[in-house]
Amino acid sequence: MALEVMTVVGARPQFIKAAVVSHEMSEYSKIHEFLIHTGQHYDYNMSEAFFEELSIPAPVVNLGISGGSHAEMTSAMLVALEKCMLEMGPNIVLLYGDTNSTLAAALAASKLHIPVVHVEAGARTRSKTNPEEINRVCTDHIASLLLASTETGLDNLKAEGLIEHSCFTGDPMYDAYLKNASLAKPPVLSNIDDGNTVTLPQGFYYLTCHREENTSPDVLNAILEAMNTLDFPVIYPVHPRNRAKVLEAMENKAFGNVYAVNPIGYLGSLYLVNHAKQVVTDSGGLQREAFFAGVKCTTLLDFEVWPETMVDNRNLLASPTRAGILNAMQSSQHVDPDYLPFGDGHAARNIIEEITRSFI
Ligand code: UD1
Repeated sequence: MALEVMTVVGARPQFIKAAVVSHEMSEYSKIHEFLIHTGQHYDYNMSEAFFEELSIPAPVVNLGISGGSHAEMTSAMLVALEKCMLEMGPNIVLLYGDTNSTLAAALAASKLHIPVVHVEAGARTRSKTNPEEINRVCTDHIASLLLASTETGLDNLKAEGLIEHSCFTGDPMYDAYLKNASLAKPPVLSNIDDGNTVTLPQGFYYLTCHREENTSPDVLNAILEAMNTLDFPVIYPVHPRNRAKVLEAMENKAFGNVYAVNPIGYLGSLYLVNHAKQVVTDSGGLQREAFFAGVKCTTLLDFEVWPETMVDNRNLLASPTRAGILNAMQSSQHVDPDYLPFGDGHAARNIIEEITRSFI
């Protein structure tokens, strides 16, 4: 009998990591994996586009749960996932990262005594007001097998008394980057206001900004003001969460240097990362992709998620003020090609080997 692995995904970064692990897992005859999509991300460009581009196996169920408060979303997922787990009887539940989908699945599985495997374990911001931090800490303390993407993550797990069931595998996002960087293609850009096509300029900066911390009108205005002073246009694919606020900000002030466009898929985003003058972001995934591409990054948060990227000015934190952002963007970085803290591009294989060792 094959090991029945239920993988629960819901948000963009999870699709990217699950894609490489699922492909590798399909080679193992002793494992049978199936995907549950919680529905947390649901717009075509936030979800389906990733499944198509990355040839991710179709989920057996899409629960269609999204939006609302954290409690509303997480509790609805908890109830629905428990039902799925009872019906489908997985031997283990495989989870990625720090989303509400991750936390809900971890809670549901643990109460049914189904072992949880957590990929990207040990990442810490030490900010208790950051909703993702709560999700990661709780999931790590529930999980039976903790797979860290970096040695720093492993150190964090050790400090929390979790080392016995933890190991370093490398980062499947790095695997995905190595596998797909050469397939990256210029994205089709469409204006968030009228849907008209936007031509990608020769030189550009790449901005993403969607965290709860950066969505108040004042903070968003300060970020867009800084972007408006740059020497090249700024491509800003806007998360649906921010759409109305960005439209309002753009209407009130003329941020002509900022091209606010609809969300783009993975390969288009990789193209922007690889060709950007610099990346400015509050996304944990994009910080790492900029690092993989050797492109300087400014992070619009006041806490580190991936300290490994914060060497030699390669990724600097900036408070979301015009001066703070522009200061951080001015310093030049040094890239040491031998510094590879996210593994050797075989994280997916390592993850599966650890699962095999622990559960087969
Ligand atoms: C979530 C994760 C975060 C991850 C990010 C990746 C949590 C707490 N946070 O943040 O860890 O880095 O995904 O992007 O789980 N929405 C749409 N269409 C969509 C997706 C979202 O309209 O396709 C709306 C939702 O209805 C919601 C808002 O955007 O109102 C925020 O989405 P949500 O999934 O709650 O959080 P993210 O900011 O995407």
